[in-house]
Amino acid sequence: MCGIVGLTGKDIRVKELVKALKKLEYRGYDSAGIAFQDKENVYVKKEKGRILNLENMLGDINEKIVESCIAHTRWATHGEPSELNAHPHTDCTGKIAVVHNGIIENYMEIKHALIEKGHRFSSETDTEVIAHLIEEYYYGDLQKAVSHAILDLSGAYAIAVIHNDHPGEIIAARKGSPLVLGKNDDKAILASDVTPALKYTREMIFLEDGDIAHLSENKIEIFSVNGTRINRQSTLINWDEESAEKGGFEHFMLKEIFDEPQSIRSALMGKISDEKVVFKELDSISENISKTKKINVIACGTSYHAGLIFKKFIEDYANTEVEIDVASEFRYKNNIIDTDSIVIAISQSGETTDTLEGVRKAKSKGAKIIAITNIVGSTISREADAVIYLNAGLEIGVAATKTYVTQLTILYLLGTYIAALKNVSKDKLNKIILNMMDMPTVIENILSYAPDVCLQLAKEFYKYKHFMYIGRGYSYPSALEGALKLKEISYIHASAYQAGELKHGPIALLDDEFPVFAIVPDDELKKKTLSNVIETKARNAKIVGICTEGDKEVSKIINSRIEVPKTIDALYPLIMSPFLQLFAYYVSILRKYDPDKPRNLAKSVTVE
Ligand code: F6R
Repeated sequence: MCGIVGLTGKDIRVKELVKALKKLEYRGYDSAGIAFQDKENVYVKKEKGRILNLENMLGDINEKIVESCIAHTRWATHGEPSELNAHPHTDCTGKIAVVHNGIIENYMEIKHALIEKGHRFSSETDTEVIAHLIEEYYYGDLQKAVSHAILDLSGAYAIAVIHNDHPGEIIAARKGSPLVLGKNDDKAILASDVTPALKYTREMIFLEDGDIAHLSENKIEIFSVNGTRINRQSTLINWDEESAEKGGFEHFMLKEIFDEPQSIRSALMGKISDEKVVFKELDSISENISKTKKINVIACGTSYHAGLIFKKFIEDYANTEVEIDVASEFRYKNNIIDTDSIVIAISQSGETTDTLEGVRKAKSKGAKIIAITNIVGSTISREADAVIYLNAGLEIGVAATKTYVTQLTILYLLGTYIAALKNVSKDKLNKIILNMMDMPTVIENILSYAPDVCLQLAKEFYKYKHFMYIGRGYSYPSALEGALKLKEISYIHASAYQAGELKHGPIALLDDEFPVFAIVPDDELKKKTLSNVIETKARNAKIVGICTEGDKEVSKIINSRIEVPKTIDALYPLIMSPFLQLFAYYVSILRKYDPDKPRNLAKSVTVE
């Protein structure tokens, strides 16, 4: 997730755009850049790191009056965070400058074709191809050139373009990434969300996929790619600036749960082709993966729970042994690892010290390391042999939500990829692939009713001091994750057990003051889990549960329940995640805590 902003009109100083860009810093902050046009030229300035670094570097330029300007704050997806890869990107002539939020999936093909035609590239980014494509199609009409260029792009984009020979004009376009437009009497603004525009107007136009916008002074015109004028209604925004940054949600955690369909979509992008899973990132070690007899996984916290689901998935689908360790244990134990080993390290931040030390130890024994992370340029991404990015977008809430569901998405795909390397039947894998392709829509539907259901259940249960989460098979890691979410943001003591383990000790804890959160989807272990639930009921424990829609057997036993749509056994953890997260969220709210900033916790654990 990156942020883009553009401004045109009367008396614009560079510092005005920098200020607007700062409102988008939450969307990414590994580098920032600006392109502005005075009456003569387009100038580009960029800097690695936060927007403040850019502002300091600009110095006196901050006061310069310009005709139009565009800016970008980056969250790297293609190419490490560096000044060179920072936006805006320009064409060969330096006359065209482009900022982009999104991912261009076919940029490599376009880049090769443009290089053949003589274009010279200076960055590793997908975005630079857009500037060169516009150059290729430019014959004096910038809007036409942009319209032509976007027809060649597949993937997602929100772009803004300025040109040397078009002072005061900005052309913008979108497909799949957000773009908002607004204007007042003497200025027009575009931005990735409403926050920078609120200073100018409360009437916003939300650009739609396929729209091209032409901004000049205090004018906004919208067209289709073939040049037909389109009328888009504006929307009145009543949010203050703080709630606008959170997309109108009360907390980042809630916003990030609602980001999940889009994050899953981004994670899937480019990974499925001709009903097959592709991981170009793994080309260099695919031989090692097909030969290996055992895979090791290391991770911490929520990432470890995602790893547990992966372990079961790989054992079920690829018939390959997986050993998983919490990284803080792995780094100090005698690991049976050698040059034939594949180690998968899962870390959202890519900076967790224990996971990094585990990676270093495995590497020193000759293992090949696959890192799964959300942060381009993170330490783990630099030390691994191959890196798979989550592309979930920046997560600000301390509790992992959208990054957990994207970890699961990537891990299911990776499991399917490994199973294919091990010659598992296409039919079995196709089922997973088809279901995964539907996931963004399934989660979108779930989010249309889950908050109400979870709020009601939270009201019933938020006063308890303890919780016991139980599940079997794929639902045991879900129980662990549900309990972790609840304890970290609501400070209720919550533990998780394999449902079959209850009678070996934990059941002694249960009474009418100790409720059970039972995870009982309609999978091959349902009857077994249900019989454990009945045992807990006999101890007077109140039960809240998740089951499959319309499951009468379960609903007879569990009154306070959440129902999820039917899916393949292996995929239940993914569709259950929003419910577990929302239940914990509302319990935290009802107990009057701030779920975005849980006490004693940090987003990235860079100490041992
Ligand atoms: C829980 C949570 C933590 C992290 C853990 C590992 O909501 O966010 O448990 O999952 O600290 O962090 P990463 O994945 O960055 O290595």
